[in-house]
Amino acid sequence: MSNPRNPRAGRAGVIVLLVLAAVVGFATAALLTNIFEHKQEAKSTYVRLVDVNEDTTDPEPWGMNWPRQFDAYKRTSQSTRTVFGGSEALPEEKLERDPWLKRLFAGYAFAIDYRDRRGHAYMLADQEQTKRVTERPQTGACLHCHASVMPTYRRMGDGDVRKGFEALGNLDYPSAHAQLVATGSSNPTGGGTNAEKHHAEGAHPVSCVDCHDPKTMELRVTRPGFVSGIAALAESAEPVPHLPSVELWRSGPRSEPYDANRDASRQEMRSFVCAQCHVEYYCGPKTTLFFPWSKGLRVEQLEQHYDQLTFADGQRFFDWKHAETGAEVLKAQHPEFELWSQGIHARSGVSCADCHMPYMREGALKVSDHWVRSPLLNVSRACQVCHPYPESEITGRVTAIQQRTHDLMQRAAQAATDMLDALATAKKGGISEAALAPALELQRKAQWRLDFVAAENSMGFHAPQESARILGESIDYSRQAQLVVLALSKDE
Ligand code: HEC
Ligand code: HEC
Ligand code: HEC
Ligand code: HEC
Ligand code: HEC
Repeated sequence: MSNPRNPRAGRAGVIVLLVLAAVVGFATAALLTNIFEHKQEAKSTYVRLVDVNEDTTDPEPWGMNWPRQFDAYKRTSQSTRTVFGGSEALPEEKLERDPWLKRLFAGYAFAIDYRDRRGHAYMLADQEQTKRVTERPQTGACLHCHASVMPTYRRMGDGDVRKGFEALGNLDYPSAHAQLVATGSSNPTGGGTNAEKHHAEGAHPVSCVDCHDPKTMELRVTRPGFVSGIAALAESAEPVPHLPSVELWRSGPRSEPYDANRDASRQEMRSFVCAQCHVEYYCGPKTTLFFPWSKGLRVEQLEQHYDQLTFADGQRFFDWKHAETGAEVLKAQHPEFELWSQGIHARSGVSCADCHMPYMREGALKVSDHWVRSPLLNVSRACQVCHPYPESEITGRVTAIQQRTHDLMQRAAQAATDMLDALATAKKGGISEAALAPALELQRKAQWRLDFVAAENSMGFHAPQESARILGESIDYSRQAQLVVLALSKDE
């Protein structure tokens, strides 16, 4: 087009250039206006009335600077209800609604008290009160995800977070909790002025400082469990197309471990801050708390991590021995991040915060809703920005996914119960544990998969097809175990 010897083409070129200049000029002006608007937003959002620092675990001083976020944060103490989610003042016992859970967990603390989750305001109080803590010994590592614990880690480790994290994890729960309260009380800004006095004085549930750098207000991750877990995932060969910064790190020199605070995009951070806690983990007396991600994030990859783990005495890893059968089984806990990772939303770059902390307009300001809760209570802002259908259509689609998952889960539970019946009868009938060993391995697999979906909190929504795949495998393993027992009984 730009042949200089052709005058007509030359004239056309000038016109194109002029048009281009106009477009660029307009775009620049628009961009500047946009930047100016954002600066204004940022400015009015960041007027600091009170200084906050790394030790300010009390959200109230932060609230003086950022009242909108603080007001919404406080609302996590309100009770809400959806068909499969939400929370009430006294959360329902999962054990009463689904009695098969009690048999699944026979011999384990979860068989005595296991409730629905509720809002962030209650996380420390609910942990202080659960019979799993009051009637069974637990480790100080439980605080990792239930308290604003970073200053305590630093204090216990003389400034070294990792050291303090290990030290607190080596204490029993009451001693670790006393350390948490001591840190809060010795810190002038953390003195227990929290509006929600459900939990111990001087200690706080997840707070601003856990997700934000107090100097810049940038998102950041703080929890050692996540920091090590995501670095181990990065070291693995498992493809993670939904986490582009991990893939980018892998293609680099790898001289330093993957560090979310340095390497992750802002959009990834909007999920990583949640993945500090909403994940499968090991938290017990046998070793330091960890996230089992060294092989990948899928259910069988976490299982592989556990299967390949042995303790100092050479014993293969297990959470507890099943009281009815003696099988060495695993307990799953809230693998929201792992299941989200298998779904279409993660694949499309949609973060936890997009649905659970959507933007809202307050006057000229765009703020993130810090009332972290079920998105079904907030469909217009959580979903309709991307799915322009009526609210009833959107909730209808969600309920369809959840109801199907729920129904399949009940079938998997029936299969697991039949398996336990068969194993228990065989054991009572005198069939040796050695002969039953292959069936007990199948029980471990069946239970892990059923529990994985039951413990995840979206009832399949975060990854519908993956949830169904996992339940299908669980049913298969339970029935295989039954067949093994049947063959043994025929041999008798
Ligand atoms: C595309 C939107 C979307 C994304 C992205 C998403 N969620 Fe969800 N989440 C939902 C829906 C819908 C439910 C079901 C809520 C219900 O049943 O009331 C849910 C349920 C939950 C629940 C239980 C809530 C309750 O009230 O019982 C938790 C916890 C949760 N998600 C955490 C996460 C985490 C952590 C991430 C990121 C790793 C994430 N979610 C990503 C939409 C999303
Ligand atoms: C420090 C750990 C921690 C972090 C970080 C965290 N959560 Fe939670 N979350 C919890 C705990 C613990 C509970 C259960 C509290 C209870 O039942 O007492 C919970 C409960 C929830 C619930 C249920 C609320 C309800 O009303 O039933 C949702 C939804 C949720 N979290 C989503 C998120 C999202 C999204 C993020 C990231 C923006 C996030 N959480 C970050 C630990 C955490
Ligand atoms: C890796 C983070 C993490 C660790 C470690 C952790 N929790 Fe939680 N806990 C959560 C999250 C997230 C929820 C909310 C989701 C749910 O209830 O499934 C929760 C929910 C709970 C609840 C309310 C629901 C229920 O299960 O009855 C109790 C009680 C609880 N945890 C106790 C404990 C105890 C005791 C320990 C130590 C053995 C512990 N937690 C360790 C993240 C964690
Ligand atoms: C569980 C993690 C978490 C906690 C706890 C938390 N925030 Fe946030 N906050 C977020 C996320 C996610 C965003 C969105 C940031 C982004 O997209 O860059 C955000 C954004 C903000 C912003 C930027 C403006 C906006 O609304 O998007 C401010 C200011 C803020 N939070 C203040 C607070 C204050 C004050 C507290 C304590 C009362 C708090 N946050 C607690 C996760 C958290
Ligand atoms: C930031 C944009 C965004 C938000 C917010 C969002 N979605 Fe989506 N959603 C997508 C994309 C992208 C897809 C993939 C389909 C596509 O590419 O068109 C999708 C797919 C779905 C599907 C099909 C699921 C499947 O497995 O095939 C459902 C159902 C859905 N979304 C429901 C919701 C609900 C409910 C919410 C709110 C809680 C929500 N979405 C929030 C972007 C979003």
